[in-house]
Amino acid sequence: MQKGMTLIQGDYRAVIDIGTTKVCVILVARRPDRRLEITGLGIAQCDGLRKGVIADTAAVTDAIRRAAEEASQQAGVVLAAAYVGIAGTHIDSDDRWSAVPRGPGVRAVTQDDLVEAVKHVSKFDPAPGQHVLHVIPRTYTLDGLHGVHNPEGMHTQELHVQSQVISGPTEQVEALEAAVNAAGLRCAGVIVEPMATADAVFEPAEKQGVVALVDIGGGKTDIAVFHDGIMVATAMLPVGGYQFTNDLSIAFSLPYADAEKLKVEQGTVIPDFFHAAAEVVIRPTGMQGPLTITHRDIGQILKDRAEELIELVRMKLDIPALAETPVETIVVTGGGAQLRDFITLTKHSLQKKIRLGAPKGLDGLPETHRDPSIAAAAGMAMWAMRNLPAEGHAARPYEPSAGVIGTLRGLLPHAKSDVAKKTPAKV
Ligand SMILES: Nc1ncnc2c1ncn2[C@@H]1O[C@H](COP(=O)(O)OP(=O)(O)OP(=O)(O)O)[C@@H](O)[C@H]1O
Ligand SMILES: [Mg+2]
Repeated sequence: MQKGMTLIQGDYRAVIDIGTTKVCVILVARRPDRRLEITGLGIAQCDGLRKGVIADTAAVTDAIRRAAEEASQQAGVVLAAAYVGIAGTHIDSDDRWSAVPRGPGVRAVTQDDLVEAVKHVSKFDPAPGQHVLHVIPRTYTLDGLHGVHNPEGMHTQELHVQSQVISGPTEQVEALEAAVNAAGLRCAGVIVEPMATADAVFEPAEKQGVVALVDIGGGKTDIAVFHDGIMVATAMLPVGGYQFTNDLSIAFSLPYADAEKLKVEQGTVIPDFFHAAAEVVIRPTGMQGPLTITHRDIGQILKDRAEELIELVRMKLDIPALAETPVETIVVTGGGAQLRDFITLTKHSLQKKIRLGAPKGLDGLPETHRDPSIAAAAGMAMWAMRNLPAEGHAARPYEPSAGVIGTLRGLLPHAKSDVAKKTPAKV
């Protein structure tokens, strides 16, 4: 397909997932057959986060710029704005009932009433220091008739809406917004990552019942619990793939990069499963010559860390709110979930339905990236496409000579993002 003009006319969204190891930018478009297609994917290494929070804005900004450039080149368009993801601790989810203000008398519920309902709920103050990110209407009550999911066209005098209101720390939202702006992009809004990731990895049947999403990233593990499709709890553990690699690095006196390679290529968390006696030659720092170790040696170290992580997940899922409805299924995703035999060990330890979740529902994802580390970005792309406005994400044909950011500066009259306006915080 010829890149450029044809796509600009289309229905586009751009999303940025800022992780502890990488920034991932996805440009997604809706094709005429209504399927969603990734037209640009950019990934840039980044170590500007600590425990999921921005610690080095310059490093994050630089990675956003590089990933955006790559995605723009592929799609053949200049990226002007994007949604950014938020995960980690202090994502709150509240249930709110509210009466939707509408004129007197009995009349049919209109699309405008439903829009007004969301606006109205958005006006509630979140907890101090929190910023409302999503208002998701769940059910409506029409003159005492409960549990209506789609009231449009139905006649009623009073309309009540039950909504899920999700909020995140204002400080973290502002830091994300600033990093995106500094990379020359307008921040169109913030998406709560686990909610979007669930969209990309859950099977339709899993959306009924109680399901946990466990995203094992670089420096942290995000947990979210869903009950009949509604996110009811979130948690974060400060353990991710980094800690597994670091353990190997310390145990065998290896540089981090060598330990990472050893983990990915020869690692397992069930030492007796994976050619236990097979030998691997390594070169420890400070030793005269090479050292021969076995898969079992590597597996023993990774197993200890995996068992600790699984136990921490178990503790997080063992919360009073879920006493009546315990988690039935766990979908494990994120790059760290790919560690050999991790899913098997988790099944043995937790005795639940457990599977690896890779992103689905998007065309155009290169074979090399069809893995769980892209699940969050892919989910955000789907979420943005289905639930959020385009905000002029793709501006005009990409001109390689100008560079994406150089071109953008000319395009952007206002450097400050409009997150505050788009997300109904403190109104
Ligand atoms: N095949 C593999 N086997 C084991 N670990 C892997 C494999 N592939 C990637 N990883 C690990 O996945 C981790 C990165 O995962 P991911 O890309 O999901 O993190 P992130 O999104 O950058 O971070 P976070 O979500 O914590 O902010 C790294 O620690 C890496 O070692
Ligand atoms: Mg991640």
